[in-house]
Amino acid sequence: MIISFAFLIASVLFIVGIKLLASPKTARQGNLVAGLGMLIALFAFLPLMHGSHGGGVSLWKWILILAGIVLGLVVGAAGAYKVKMTSMPQMVALFNGAGGGAAALVAVVEFAQVTPSSSLMFVVSMLCAAMIGAVSLTGSIIAYFKLEGHFDKPVTYPAQQVLNGLLFVMSALLALAMAAGSHSMVLMVLFLVLALVLGVLMVLPIGGADMPVVISLLNSFTGLAVAADGFAIGNIAMIIAGTLVGSSGTLLTLAMCKAMNRPVTNVLFSAFGKVNGASADAAAATGSVRPVQADEAAMLLGMAARVVIVPGYGLAVAQAQHQVRQLADELAKKGVEVSYAIHPVAGRMPGHMNVLLAEADVPYDQLVEMEAINPEMDRVDVCLVIGANDVVNPAAREDKSSPIYGMPIIEAEKAGTVIVMKRSMGKGFAGIENALFLRDNCRMLFGDAKASLQELVTLVKAG
Ligand code: TAP
Repeated sequence: MIISFAFLIASVLFIVGIKLLASPKTARQGNLVAGLGMLIALFAFLPLMHGSHGGGVSLWKWILILAGIVLGLVVGAAGAYKVKMTSMPQMVALFNGAGGGAAALVAVVEFAQVTPSSSLMFVVSMLCAAMIGAVSLTGSIIAYFKLEGHFDKPVTYPAQQVLNGLLFVMSALLALAMAAGSHSMVLMVLFLVLALVLGVLMVLPIGGADMPVVISLLNSFTGLAVAADGFAIGNIAMIIAGTLVGSSGTLLTLAMCKAMNRPVTNVLFSAFGKVNGASADAAAATGSVRPVQADEAAMLLGMAARVVIVPGYGLAVAQAQHQVRQLADELAKKGVEVSYAIHPVAGRMPGHMNVLLAEADVPYDQLVEMEAINPEMDRVDVCLVIGANDVVNPAAREDKSSPIYGMPIIEAEKAGTVIVMKRSMGKGFAGIENALFLRDNCRMLFGDAKASLQELVTLVKAG
């Protein structure tokens, strides 16, 4: 009774935590609340170890369990403290893969207990958990390496989808055999190996730019695997937590795809990042850019009535969020109206720019969503693009052959003057040229975003 109540409390805390995560103001609390729920669920689970499968838990097993808990807490806390904001997707990939692997292992251990009298539901839940968990484990590891830049482009080869389909059919046949009563561990191990290989082969052909979407999808897989484990071992907290992760991961995946205007199938099967972009590249390569020096840029900003800042991945790389806030403050002192245009997929993870700017205490009311700022862009004097590239690329609206065609963008080019701050003519995550940089009203302020912003702050202050 007490244990069931503890699981109920934990489940409520998970739900409240997710709700709080919906706003940058309450997101930190949300993490703590959900973490507390997990702690309660963890300790509520321990008494259940007694008497499982008829016997008590030996001292040796208790030591192993406690060592696992301590190791998990230390690795989790150290990882979260040390990880750089820009490496957050990699960390999520690794943690998610570990969750999938754990769910698959639980399923295998439970499968070893299957007897001829075990219910079909028990066996099927186990098979689902093993399959989905194993795919999530190896898929997440490949996603991690892709995000770390270990693959130049998507790995494709002839009949790739046919091979994946064959593997899936073989797994399904093995699963059928086991569900029909062949409870052999050899079949289970073979089934697991096929699932592990499938995870690798499914993610290999997907482009690096799509990894955050893939991780979100694999995250929902892990949730489903945990829920299936929960069904098998009759643990209500695992069912609720797994279903929450499964559904929120699926919704996040769909929301990201919507923001990029690409169906999930296009993300999974189009090998994005390998394909063309040739016409945009050719068009962009034919023109020349107009560099601007910091003093002239500071003058343009200081004289403007309205400035819109478009932050992107480069701002996060440069860790220049405090400098951008200082610049906005200096401009505000001169009577310039400053706001920030937030693209839903700017950066490398959902809400990346909101989190980054919140770190520098940028007031939330200055953050304007893409849909709200675009109709006003032609009334903006200066649009300051800081380390953003794909999210302001006009090819998304104008070039049907571009791989990002159809993705909604912040229409920076409509502003009176556009100042783009980046280090070089380097491409964004989609790997294509940006014709915005060649437009007549666009000036390039080359350099690391932090150093350039520091210089601008000094110049605007002095001006
Ligand atoms: P990107 O298109 O990736 O461009 C970032 C730019 O920042 C680069 O062109 C780079 O140019 C510049 N940069 C890097 N380090 C810099 C530094 N220290 N100082 C100044 N500039 C620096 O970024 P974006 O516009 O934010 O677009 C995000 C991309 O990620 C989109 O393609 C989006 O679809 C993809 N994506 C995002 C998500 C989420 S959820 N956010 C999910 C999946 C995919 P230089 O090298 O020349 O400096």
